[in-house]
Amino acid sequence: MSLHNLTRFARLELIGAPTPLEYLPRLSDYLGRDIFIKRDDVTPLAMGGNKLRKLEFLAAQALQEGADTLITAGAIQSNHVRQTAAVAAKLGLQCIALLENPIGTHAENYLTNGNRLLLDLFDAKVELCEALNRPDDQLQALATRVEAQGFRPYVIPVGGSNALGAMGYVESALEIAQQCEGAVALSSVVVASGSAGTHAGLAVGLEQLMPDVELIGVTVSRRTSDQKPKVVALQQAVARDLEIAARADITLWDDYYAPGYGVPNEEGMEAVKLLARLEGILLDPVYTGKAMAGLIDGISQQRFKDDGPILFVHTGGAPALFAYHPHV
Ligand SMILES: Cc1ncc(COP(=O)(O)O)c(C=O)c1O
Repeated sequence: MSLHNLTRFARLELIGAPTPLEYLPRLSDYLGRDIFIKRDDVTPLAMGGNKLRKLEFLAAQALQEGADTLITAGAIQSNHVRQTAAVAAKLGLQCIALLENPIGTHAENYLTNGNRLLLDLFDAKVELCEALNRPDDQLQALATRVEAQGFRPYVIPVGGSNALGAMGYVESALEIAQQCEGAVALSSVVVASGSAGTHAGLAVGLEQLMPDVELIGVTVSRRTSDQKPKVVALQQAVARDLEIAARADITLWDDYYAPGYGVPNEEGMEAVKLLARLEGILLDPVYTGKAMAGLIDGISQQRFKDDGPILFVHTGGAPALFAYHPHV
């Protein structure tokens, strides 16, 4: 295995121990297929989620650079921004969040509950903007302003998705490989694919460690034609930084996110209810519900490479359930 360069990157211990990888007996019975779940929804800080894995690397770099402020951006109900704000609080840093309302809703719970409520508890400073249409430029402009006020900002891109952040999901692939070794012969892995760092990191890690496993990214915001270049660019950047080759083709299913990013659909909400009812596990309306809807439909449409065990990577997001109730 050739992921040893991963240890070259500074990393904060925010998670501490591997997240559980569990068998889902009642869902497996229901679907007639062995389904496992990687519980990255229960990473230990601030109601959990995938972003803590990225932040272990990003926040370490921020501290190395002497930053006193973390700046990032996302939707009002961003799980990424919530986890960044919590990490900032834990490290004694300021957090400034640039937020948009991507679905243009006036629903009270969307504007004030769920992840947004938690931002206030973590004492993040919030700036609203019309739209994050050029997020990197908008974050840079904010950083310049904050610097002029005498602070030392560290900019974390939307979703924490640069090559450094995606290293967190190379790490997750290492855990998955170790947890499956001698126990489960996985056929397929399913993950939500948004800002793409999670998908790209897993793609690099799994190609090295479990080359026969098929990785499927279920898109939550874009068609395959727009998402694939993003995932591939990050996959290649991660591989370059680890000084390895990444040749695995990127597979995306884009049939499950309509009508658009941040807008729940019926299949996704049915998946949320199913996992709650059968396994006591909370998915979310924006990412994991839609990804699970893809997994369920993928089985019934025979889209997977074979009938072997499937691993669902649960990336978190349940705080948004409160923001999306009763509707957006
Ligand atoms: C709960 C949840 N799942 C999945 C994702 C997608 O991960 P990525 O942005 O790395 O593609 C996100 C990103 O915001 C998320 O909050």
